[in-house]
Amino acid sequence: MVRVKVPATIANLGPGFDTLGVAVSLFNIIEMNFSDELKIEVLNEGKNILPENEVNLVYQSAKKVIDRFGFERKLHIRLINNIPLARGLGSSAAAIVGGVVAVNELLGKPLSMDEIINIATNIEGHPDNVVPALLGGFTVSLFDGEKVFYKKFSLPEKELCFVVAVPQFHLKTSDARKVLPEKISLKDAVYNMSRTALFVACVAQKDFSFLDVLCRDKLHQPYRSSLIPGMEEIINRGMEKGLLSVFLSGAGPSIAGICDKKDAEKAGKFMVGTFNNFGIKAKYLILNPC
Ligand code: HSE
Repeated sequence: MVRVKVPATIANLGPGFDTLGVAVSLFNIIEMNFSDELKIEVLNEGKNILPENEVNLVYQSAKKVIDRFGFERKLHIRLINNIPLARGLGSSAAAIVGGVVAVNELLGKPLSMDEIINIATNIEGHPDNVVPALLGGFTVSLFDGEKVFYKKFSLPEKELCFVVAVPQFHLKTSDARKVLPEKISLKDAVYNMSRTALFVACVAQKDFSFLDVLCRDKLHQPYRSSLIPGMEEIINRGMEKGLLSVFLSGAGPSIAGICDKKDAEKAGKFMVGTFNNFGIKAKYLILNPC
């Protein structure tokens, strides 16, 4: 039996749509073994919601690897899920990565890390959750439709943390991508491109002094705000409440902020309170980069 731990991830981080991502301290556990018949058990998050049959995403991802090597084996999979489903914290990337990594371990590690990244990203369609879920840290990645190119940086764990307000409703990434425009203006492209590039330079130099300017976005957040009541208010007022920057977590509906650890609780209460003012139940999580 193999046991794999996969972290939640926050993608985009404001300007880095489909490019930037970070792994945070909340984990799904995937246990996998060969078996006489297919058996899937889901515990915690997604129990009674996620399918426990061959359409389960962890199984489908593992099956891709099994088929590639021509094995005929069946699997027993046990999922101990802690990452909230369809909330912008990389639950599908964690499922895909968990399936591919666990089965690779069971088969005696025939795949390299680059092969795992490419298989998982081809299933997910974008690399910004998959890459940090596999490598940890803060990652910059590019998917050319076939292959992923990436770099990983470490983030300081001591003072900074992520506060994530998780609303009670689900938002599928596919639905949150449908509201995005086909074309954007050159001005908006430059707005995001310059911020993403400078963000990476700041992470490389461990300088977080102007995160508020860096984490703004014109490519996806303005279009997604209609799907997430309270989002604009939280983003516009987050800085007054101690957040150094605030942005949509992945495709949403969760909203993430970066702050000093001492300010995290106050910021989390503000974010949840604002969702509540818009009639949305929510909770907040304080997570460390990992
Ligand atoms: N970059 C993706 C998006 C992340 O924003 O659609 C989804 O988790």
